[in-house]
Amino acid sequence: MAEEATRRVLVPGGSGAVGEGVVRAYLAAGAIVVVPTRTEQRADEFRELLGDAASDRLHLFAHDYATFEGAETLAATMRERFGGIDDVVAPIGGWWAGKRLWEIGAADWDAAFTGLATTHMAVARAVLPRLSGRGSYAIVVGESALHPVPGSGLVSMEQAAVLMMRRVLAAEAGDEQRIHALVLGPVRTRVLPGEPSWVSAEQIGTVAVALSRSPGEASREVSLRTSAEAEQILARLA
Ligand SMILES: NC(=O)c1ccc[n+]([C@@H]2O[C@H](COP(=O)([O-])OP(=O)(O)OC[C@H]3O[C@@H](n4cnc5c(N)ncnc54)[C@H](OP(=O)(O)O)[C@@H]3O)[C@@H](O)[C@H]2O)c1
Repeated sequence: MAEEATRRVLVPGGSGAVGEGVVRAYLAAGAIVVVPTRTEQRADEFRELLGDAASDRLHLFAHDYATFEGAETLAATMRERFGGIDDVVAPIGGWWAGKRLWEIGAADWDAAFTGLATTHMAVARAVLPRLSGRGSYAIVVGESALHPVPGSGLVSMEQAAVLMMRRVLAAEAGDEQRIHALVLGPVRTRVLPGEPSWVSAEQIGTVAVALSRSPGEASREVSLRTSAEAEQILARLA
């Protein structure tokens, strides 16, 4: 546990429903947790939501990390300020629904595909060369990356692209870095209480922390479709 006290973790998308579980888990594990968010308002709301959990190890601030330039500044600042970056968990995304693919417009494409895919790429290219090697980089996607979801095709396409990005990065990094994907089923969050059988945001955070602290876990895709699956993985990592 003492090792976690100095771990420096970046959670872009940390203000979101899944991100909250990740941020809470790393704070509870004693890490320094950096959460950029694209608006001041969201920073204020998320700080309030965290309440007492928002300790002085949480660095939550407004910053546009969704561009190559913005992500580069973020990674450079983190290195200057904290001396490096050990872990990244990227629950960047969200749901989009309501149109078949041939009904979408340019604004849908930009919001649900280009914008999100660009943000993942921007963060990965800025951070990976600066990762210390002590921890890991984990992207967060849904099962929709693997299966077409009619009416939400842009989500499936974007998530599949990000999943392939992870595969390419892992192949290119070899033994230098551990680059994981957490592939989620429906999640119990502050937004959606869901069913007891669903994996919870809290469990996702706990798995992310355990994975990053397991140097023997080479780059991999971790299926977290249910609460039971999360518990099995946690038992194995323990
Ligand atoms: N919730 C679920 O049940 C569920 C199930 C399966 C998979 N997932 C996956 O988990 C990930 C997170 O989902 P979520 O439910 O937590 O979503 P969310 O609550 O909407 O949060 C997503 C976060 O991503 C950031 N974000 C959103 N759009 C962005 C954009 N265009 N550019 C940059 N950042 C953007 C936001 O951060 P800021 O606005 O603060 O910058 C936000 O905090 C997604 O990949 C999603 O597919 C979620």
